[in-house]
Amino acid sequence: MSYEKGQLDVEWTPIEQEAARATKVLHPTETLPVPAQRRVVAVANQKGGVGKTTSTVNIAAALALRGLKVLVIDLDPQGNASTALGVDHHSNTPSVYEVLLGEISIADAAAVSTQSDNLVCIPATIDLAGSEIELVSMAARETRLKEALSTEALDHLQADYVFIDCPPSLGLLTVNALVAAQEVLIPIQCEYYALEGLGQLLNNIELVKAHLNPSLRVSTILLTMYDGRTKLADQVTSEVRGHFGDLVLRTVIPRSVKVSEAPGYGQTVLAYDPGSRGAMSYLDAAREMAVRGANGETG
Ligand SMILES: Nc1ncnc2c1ncn2[C@@H]1O[C@H](COP(=O)(O)OP(=O)(O)OP(=O)(O)O)[C@@H](O)[C@H]1O
Ligand SMILES: [Mg+2]
Repeated sequence: MSYEKGQLDVEWTPIEQEAARATKVLHPTETLPVPAQRRVVAVANQKGGVGKTTSTVNIAAALALRGLKVLVIDLDPQGNASTALGVDHHSNTPSVYEVLLGEISIADAAAVSTQSDNLVCIPATIDLAGSEIELVSMAARETRLKEALSTEALDHLQADYVFIDCPPSLGLLTVNALVAAQEVLIPIQCEYYALEGLGQLLNNIELVKAHLNPSLRVSTILLTMYDGRTKLADQVTSEVRGHFGDLVLRTVIPRSVKVSEAPGYGQTVLAYDPGSRGAMSYLDAAREMAVRGANGETG
């Protein structure tokens, strides 16, 4: 006989609870809405180490696990998103660098992630490191990624969502992402100086909007690395919510060792430890983004 344990007054042990959560993550009965129009999201914050890459790969993986087709563009020479998605990015791999130069199409560089068949990644190799400088002298230097992400090219990859993982700078790579996207997702770390430098980022977004991409908007703010044991984390949370209101997702990503361990295994936290708090919170964040988008609440 099969029964739900809770129904028989039998307590779940913590390990059973975690296993049950893992089963729900990996074998979902839930589906998420396909956006009416493809969503292209730049994940940006020039501050380093705030959770851009972690949020990109885990939200992307969560949406893919729920049946949506997702493309991740690794636009950081560090190649951390490629690593976390289990995609090769050694020096001779066709990558976003050749895409920006116009030598190859995104389809030529796209590799299916080991994390989901619904998830495709355009890797970044170390070649990208020189591109901030190389791009300066090129024609249409701000719009190269946008041109590569044509409707036909994205239709070909059948992408419902495109996430662009930006490097920690406001240079030409980030500008290319802001020109190619309609939305910006800003991860903010629940730490000292969380809001420092955000003004500069928002200014840049306004400049790109005014001159190059009128449809750009900040759609989503995600609080990351929240440590419930500290007062500071709560202060930052309420400050950010006070400042950005409904743009801030209700879901907050907790600081969790599992989240930081996963990339070392070429995995997202959803695969590495699906029952963990980190996995659940990224799943919640992805759901919130998808549902808000479907309800037209993204700004
Ligand atoms: N929720 C979390 N709990 C614990 N560690 C985390 C969490 N999120 C991210 N980290 C760790 O913090 C570090 C920075 O995260 P991440 O690489 O995602 O930031 P980033 O903004 O992309 O950094 P960069 O600016 O260098 O690109 C990484 O070592 C990552 O594993
Ligand atoms: Mg990063």
